[in-house]
Amino acid sequence: MPTEQGNAQDPSRPAATGFGRRRVLLAGGAVLAAGVGAAADELVRDDRAAGRATAGAPPTEAAIPFHGARQAGVTTPQQPATHLLSFDLPKTSAATDRKTLRSVFGALTRTLATAASDAPRDPRLRGGGATRLTSLVGVGPALAARLGLNVPASFGELPPFPGDRLDPRRSNGDLLVQLCAADRWTLTIVAELVGRAAHAAGAVPRWTQSGFLPHTAPGTTPRNLFGSKDGTANPDHAAAEEWVWGPSGDHRNGTVLVYRRIRMDVTGFAALPEGRRDQVVGRRARDGAPLSGTTEHDEPDIYAKNPDGSYVIPATAHVRLTSPRFDGGARMLRRSYSYDDGPADRGLLFCAFMRDPDRFTRVQNRLAARDALNPFLQHRASAVAYVLPGTAPAGTLGEQLWT
Ligand code: HEM
Repeated sequence: MPTEQGNAQDPSRPAATGFGRRRVLLAGGAVLAAGVGAAADELVRDDRAAGRATAGAPPTEAAIPFHGARQAGVTTPQQPATHLLSFDLPKTSAATDRKTLRSVFGALTRTLATAASDAPRDPRLRGGGATRLTSLVGVGPALAARLGLNVPASFGELPPFPGDRLDPRRSNGDLLVQLCAADRWTLTIVAELVGRAAHAAGAVPRWTQSGFLPHTAPGTTPRNLFGSKDGTANPDHAAAEEWVWGPSGDHRNGTVLVYRRIRMDVTGFAALPEGRRDQVVGRRARDGAPLSGTTEHDEPDIYAKNPDGSYVIPATAHVRLTSPRFDGGARMLRRSYSYDDGPADRGLLFCAFMRDPDRFTRVQNRLAARDALNPFLQHRASAVAYVLPGTAPAGTLGEQLWT
């Protein structure tokens, strides 16, 4: 079974995904700008994630703390399995719905904190050691508008995109919960507990989706079902403070999750010659290097040209069209998973975190118009959620929403 460490990015590499544990310490300015609380939380999670041993005892995999200024499910190194749950809040009066929402947040906070602790209450989660669960809870734009919740001004519905074939039964929702862990067992049990607690407090289940990553050696990038390394060009800690986490004020420790369930024609893509596949992506599948470079973490040079004047990274390559250079340097943190719901329905659960969802809209409009991957993709579901700031042990998720 792969461990969380197994899929962590190399923390010593400044431009890689990382959120490298020690980098939180080293990037002193960024730490202060983010607030010492949030940085300290990440450090505690770092030490826990490293499973440090106490004198004389064997190393243990300690729990990843649930409490903190930020929810753990955004930047804790990506774990091998995920499970998403979406809920609606029945519409009655604004006052009643607000009360229901408070009680759902209370139920979710208690359930998730207990499941993530060193001593989960459910015996099925006590298989020896902590669950190493991470989670995040977010609210959807329709609920935020309906109840006048204090969410960032830029947070709202995504527009429709050309080519979308979205299934409403697998899309949207008033509340979104994402669980991540090292194994599917933990997620199945915690999803059951979360579903029961949310339902008892008044929320109605809307859809669920599970996903996974391949076994991946420590410090390397997991591959998607097309065989590409996926997650290479993610923001480092400083860039995430600028582009992923909210601006100063109430939303500093919140972010926005964009979720897309994208069906992939794995067979059709595999039928392309290897060189053509690399041209479509703009990186070599073999080592993940951009066509303009030699190693995985070389920055793609979208201006480099061949002797005949054509671009080295072709005009319709995925990596060109998603380049931050077209968006004033704006970044998103991609933390996607693969899914397999039968031979005809496999693909990517695209999960990306960003301060302003308009970044997704700009990139997706470019992709929908020209991406050479398009013949092999179908966007079949979509959701967007404002990921709430974290909470202290005495608090409840969602406290900042009430103004
Ligand atoms: C199934 C669909 C998709 C596949 C297979 C895919 C695959 C990839 C691959 C292989 C890379 C290069 C390696 C890396 O940096 O991670 C990449 C980069 C990227 N993708 Fe996608 N992607 C998909 C959908 C999307 C969507 C929907 C968006 C956003 C609208 C997106 C945004 C990005 C961004 C921002 C980068 C990094 C660009 C850079 O900074 O160089 N991708 N993707």
